[in-house]
Amino acid sequence: MDRQLNLKNIVLIGRTFEEYHKMFDLGSSSANEYILDVASGVSSFCAEASAKGYNVTASDQIYTSSPPEIEKKCRDDLGIVIKQLPALADLYVWNFFRDVHALKTHREKAYKSFIKDFKKYGTKRYIPAIYPSTDFKEEQFTISLVSHFLFLYEDHISYDFHRKVIRELLRITSKEIRIFPIVNLKGKKSLHIDRLMHDKEFNHLQISIKKVGYEFMKDGNEMMLIAKSGCN
Ligand SMILES: C[S@@+](CC[C@H](N)C(=O)[O-])C[C@H]1O[C@@H](n2cnc3c(N)ncnc32)[C@H](O)[C@@H]1O
Repeated sequence: MDRQLNLKNIVLIGRTFEEYHKMFDLGSSSANEYILDVASGVSSFCAEASAKGYNVTASDQIYTSSPPEIEKKCRDDLGIVIKQLPALADLYVWNFFRDVHALKTHREKAYKSFIKDFKKYGTKRYIPAIYPSTDFKEEQFTISLVSHFLFLYEDHISYDFHRKVIRELLRITSKEIRIFPIVNLKGKKSLHIDRLMHDKEFNHLQISIKKVGYEFMKDGNEMMLIAKSGCN
């Protein structure tokens, strides 16, 4: 049987700007984009990127909860992941993080930066949204970033759900959608990838897979790029 993190639900843990920059190959031009962080949770990307002058809106179902509630859930979820990791360490690449302790410290730093920013800016930056539908306007953003939500959790969310989220992101995004990683929790390419790439509903789009400079799960170093016609 394949070994993997055993997670009952999609966990509430967050990554940093440095990780997003690598996962999504964000060049300096991204500073001129209107970026939507999809299912952003306790990531510090929005806080850090905003401080650097990027235009970022974060969106997640958790943003209706209070900071202490979010912090508690995040600490609990991080504990669940950290407890399982030593036995699965060989499934990961220990470059960006030296070891499990360094990973824990990095994730704590991310959620603490998030909580501080969430308390300060609230719904100016952090919009409650339950995907697949949102209240965002048509083409309100130029780029949408989806980190550790679609594909990774293919055992938790159906292909139909993926389709609906992508349909919604196509409505609210003018240029492109980037999704990372494209592997599932077993570290295998998600079964939804080929299905999506051959889905008639999306055959007017340019869908490609690009290697990026971030690999924590072994072989999890590719992102999907979905470009709306005429934008590439
Ligand atoms: C693993 S975290 C990823 C957080 C962030 N994108 C990152 O990579 O650091 C997954 C997030 O998905 C959110 N989520 C799960 N289902 C959702 C839904 N239907 N709508 C909005 N957010 C959802 C969770 O609340 C959680 O914050």
